[in-house]
Amino acid sequence: MSTISIIGSGGMAAAIAGRSAKAGHAVEVIGRDTAKAKALADKLGSGARTGTYGAVPAGDIVILAVPYSSAAAVVADYGGALGGKVIIDITNSAAPDLSGLLTPDGSSGAQEIAKGLPGGTQVVKAFNTIFGHVLAKGGRLDAFFAADDAKVKERVSTFLESLGLRPLDVGGLHMAQSLEALGLMMISLAKNGAGTWDFAMRVDVG
Ligand SMILES: NC(=O)c1ccc[n+]([C@@H]2O[C@H](COP(=O)([O-])OP(=O)(O)OC[C@H]3O[C@@H](n4cnc5c(N)ncnc54)[C@H](OP(=O)(O)O)[C@@H]3O)[C@@H](O)[C@H]2O)c1
Repeated sequence: MSTISIIGSGGMAAAIAGRSAKAGHAVEVIGRDTAKAKALADKLGSGARTGTYGAVPAGDIVILAVPYSSAAAVVADYGGALGGKVIIDITNSAAPDLSGLLTPDGSSGAQEIAKGLPGGTQVVKAFNTIFGHVLAKGGRLDAFFAADDAKVKERVSTFLESLGLRPLDVGGLHMAQSLEALGLMMISLAKNGAGTWDFAMRVDVG
């Protein structure tokens, strides 16, 4: 088992932290609001603790669970403290009116976030295609992820599997563009044709 650090203490942080604690990982919750981070850690139990915002996180895997619009500022606040870590970017960069994505053409939130990180830090896109409340409910959901480094993919795949998810590698980090488009599609689907947020994307193989 590993130590998983989560920056953010909102809905997605709680869902990922809950699954991680249940899987036996040591969880570190880090928030700019220390009271909110402590409240989440206390709720998790299982020895979950809080970390200091901006300091070197305890875990080798760090989940960035903040809005896309805040991600660059958070990464800048950390500076070199994220060096050498595996950063899992879970952000969806959908415009509030769902007219498109907030990212520059030909890029993705994950690729933009990577630009602000210190050398040796690896970015993985994951979790953005699973709604938080669906993740929290449990079940072996499909977990699409994208990353460039083979060893990092293996590490993250093992982590996702440990949470009871089915890891599905969609390719290099450039594929975060497609995963973020899928995130936008899911939100729009919930508000239009599906008429509910209680669904998950699933691939039937074979
Ligand atoms: N909700 C979903 O179903 C879902 C699904 C897939 C992906 N996502 C993505 O997951 C991420 C988190 O979503 P969420 O639903 O968990 O949001 P949320 O409940 O609003 O929580 C956001 C967290 O980010 C923190 N934060 C915001 N701005 C910050 C800043 N400038 N510096 C430091 N911390 C900051 C907030 O801290 P405070 O509490 O102090 O404001 C809060 O802990 C988003 O990027 C979202 O697109 C969400």
